[in-house]
Formats: sequence, structure tokens, C-alpha cells
Amino acid sequence: MTVTIEHRRSAELEELIDQDAAAFRILTGDRPTGQLHLGHYFGTLRNRVRLQDLGAEVFVLIADFQVLTDRDTAERLEEYVTGMLLDYLAIGLDPARTMIFAHSAVPALNQLLLPFLSLVSVPELNRNPTVKDEIAHSRQASVSGLMLTYPVHQAADILFCKANLVPVGQDQLPHLEIARLIARRFNERYGRPVFPVPDALLSAAPLLLGTDGTKMSKSRGNTIPLSATADETARLIRGAKTDSERSISYDPERRPAVSSLVLLAALCLGRDPRDVADGLGDGGAAALKSVVTTAVNDLLAPVRARRAEYARDLGYVRQVLRDGNERANEIAAATLAEVQSALGMRY
Ligand code: TRP
Repeated sequence: MTVTIEHRRSAELEELIDQDAAAFRILTGDRPTGQLHLGHYFGTLRNRVRLQDLGAEVFVLIADFQVLTDRDTAERLEEYVTGMLLDYLAIGLDPARTMIFAHSAVPALNQLLLPFLSLVSVPELNRNPTVKDEIAHSRQASVSGLMLTYPVHQAADILFCKANLVPVGQDQLPHLEIARLIARRFNERYGRPVFPVPDALLSAAPLLLGTDGTKMSKSRGNTIPLSATADETARLIRGAKTDSERSISYDPERRPAVSSLVLLAALCLGRDPRDVADGLGDGGAAALKSVVTTAVNDLLAPVRARRAEYARDLGYVRQVLRDGNERANEIAAATLAEVQSALGMRY
């Protein structure tokens, strides 16, 4: 039910974006827990570039504090953050138009967590279905306070810059509900409209499976990273799970692994997966894999070329993040000042 309403709202929002993209300040983010992969690309990254190119103001958050929700320490942060910056730039996010910044570099954003926590109840935190699921899959023996409260921190990510639109997948909807609740409660409790109530923009994210036929995920080691070379990509696809039917079809219910490969080729080629499957006929898994490999490598060739160029100039790449952090700090300081005024905490 909620899903249907959200989808309908998202379709309306897409129309508004078409009419006047500049009316939207969009915030999205990624946890730096590994390399970005094709699932991210088709699920969210290319959508960010689209929104940027339509003229919306796009903010991209590297959510480094959020790494600590389900593990004791954030491993290889510097490597992952640099890799993400390279990927962002390589796919076409333009730092002149899109602000890229990291949680940990914006103290005033983090400070919003305190007043925001006072606006939600413990039962509300406990019933978040995404958090419940993450607790069930956590690699930690006990649940940390951050695991339970990070959706409130995520509300600070969204509200510190007064974003009005948050492109998300289904799993993030409960978090967005908390951000909306906090915005409304803050405005009501303190009698002034400090925060806009942000909308979710649900993208029709295609469900790509990993190379082992299960959910594509960094932690399962079944992804095709954007940073993989053409040879590595070919090897990963060659090793992908298929089935023994020679005839290739697009039937996600009955043949999830084969259908996901068909879908991947279709996404890269901008074609309908059924047409791609028809074209392959009785070619079997080898023909399918060869088409997928060519499609992915053709799509990624220019991305890889740009990535390699940026990788030769890491000074520039770091400066992009520093500039984004600086601007985020200015915005966060202004919002925190408003919040302190509302709370009567200006001395
Ligand atoms: N929770 C998001 C994820 O795991 C990342 C994220 C952090 C985020 N802060 C955000 C997404 C703010 C949207 C808005 O993918």
C-alpha cells in the first residue's frame, strides 16, 4: 500500500523535475564499505548524473560514520573513499554542479543528531524494519547504539542542507519516514518552519543479481566493480552462475541467474531484456556471457578511461572532497545556528 503511494508520488515528482529541476535540492549518499559496482551504477549512480544534468542541485554524501553501524571499525576507509570519488567523477558527476562531502568533516551536521534524537521515541527507533533486518544480518555480537540511532543521523544528513528530495531504494523508505517525522516535529515543537519535509524519489531500480545468482552485495564478493579492468570483468562474467538450458529467455522468476545476465546486457545496451534474450535464441550460456561481457565493457570503457585520468591526479580528487566539505560546513553552520535559536541556545 505505502509502496504504491510512494511510487505514485515519485511519478509526480519526476514530472515536477522535468518542469523545473532547479527547484530541487537532492541529497543522496553511500557508505564507504567497499567498491561501487554495477548494481550501484544502474540502481542510483546514473540517476544522480541524470538529475544533475537536468539542473537539480545534487549533494552526494560519503557516509563514513554510517560504516560503524554494523562493525566495530571502518576498514580501508581512505582506499574506499578515494575509489568512490574516482567513480563519481568518472561516471560524470561534476563537482562544479554537484557537491561531494563526507560526514566526518562536517561537525555541525553531526551536532544536529542531539536535538533530533530528542524528537523520536525509543519504540519508533525499535520498529524500523530496515534496522531490524540489519541487526539480523549484523556481524556483531551485540547491537550498538549507533545501529539503533543511525536513521536519526541520516535525518541530519538530509535536513542539515534542507534537501527536499532524496532518491532512494525501497529499503531506505523507513529512514526517510523518520527524516520527515523529525522535520515536522521540529517545526511544530519550536513553532517555526526550519525544515522542509523531504520527499522520497523511488527509482525503478532494476534488480541485478550478483555473479553467484544471489543479491549483489559488496560483502558477498559477487559484484562487478566499476573499477574492474576489461579482463577482470570478462573473468567475473565468465564465472557467473547460469543454468543448463540452451535456450536463453528472460524469466526472472524461474531463471533468476540467467535473467539477471540478460538484464545486465539490456541495461548496458539500452534495450528491452526480452529482445536481448530473443536475439540469443539457443546460443546457451557461452553466447549470453559473451554478449554481456561486450556490453559491459563497451559501456564502461569511457568510464574507465576517465577514472584512470583522475587516478593520475589524486591531488585534484582530494581537493574536490575538501571543497565539498567546506561548502557543507557553511551550510551546516547556518542550519545549526537556526536550530540553536529555535531551542533558545544562542548565548
Ligand atoms: N543509508 C544509505 C545506504 O546505506 C546511505 C546514506 C547515508 C544515505 N545517509 C544518507 C542515503 C542520506 C540517502 C540520504 O545506502
